[in-house]
Amino acid sequence: MTTQNDPQAPIGAFDSGVGGLSVLRSIRAQLPGEDIIYIGDQANVPYGPRGKAEVRRLSEGIVSFLMGEGAKLIVIPCHTASAAALHSLREQYPGFPFVGMEPAVKPAVEQSKSGVVGVLATPTTFEGELYASVVERFGQGTTLLQSTCLGLVAEIEAGRANGPKAKRILQEALEPMIAKGIDTVVLGCTHYPFSFDSIRQIVGDDVRLIDPAPAIARRVESLLAEMHAKNPSDQGSMRYLTSGDPVTMRARIAELVNENVKVEKVDWKNGELTKR
Ligand code: DGL
Repeated sequence: MTTQNDPQAPIGAFDSGVGGLSVLRSIRAQLPGEDIIYIGDQANVPYGPRGKAEVRRLSEGIVSFLMGEGAKLIVIPCHTASAAALHSLREQYPGFPFVGMEPAVKPAVEQSKSGVVGVLATPTTFEGELYASVVERFGQGTTLLQSTCLGLVAEIEAGRANGPKAKRILQEALEPMIAKGIDTVVLGCTHYPFSFDSIRQIVGDDVRLIDPAPAIARRVESLLAEMHAKNPSDQGSMRYLTSGDPVTMRARIAELVNENVKVEKVDWKNGELTKR
């Protein structure tokens, strides 16, 4: 096991499924020397409708596993898990570097000219204090229109990110927002950038889409620099694990980020993740 400030130690990352890969691609572009361990908790996807207490418990189990693997920093490329668990994880592991996600309301409000912004995120994200706090800090004077796009995460997990059902869900979410004058949409769930083409088709070219991935990658880089823990290698490695079906995860990784990889299996036992 490596230790926290060892540059050779891996970065840990997790999401309910493949959504986090939309953030990982930015992190890997920004930090190509880092070794990364990514866990998709596909036995429990989607997290969105599960509520805070359950998502917190799952996130804590995954974090404890990643710490056991020697992670020097843990990034949570999942708005739902961040909403449910980031605060308690920081309390539980004081001083340990976590990078979480909150819906990118701040840049959206700054860039919106119409003053009407759409936010797409899961129910648990909307219920969390993180969202309430970004709305309070940055949303004043702007109309924020929210939609959970119920069912979209399942479509993306099934390899149909731009299929007819995904398009229908997005139309139902976005068309009423367009009618009310949105000029900016926050992609507040890391799965949704994979439906980018459908979203773009529905909103047209004049609506700005905000994907927070590049900002998260910059945050990870600056934290590692502060810790003097950047990996000097020029070729980092990736390890993928799933609590679901490795064959399915492997297929999704190939389709979504164009990579052919081995996927390891982990299992939940009494609230803990274990390797097979
Ligand atoms: N990708 C996640 C997020 O950013 C979780 C989606 C889900 O499992 O419902 O919120």
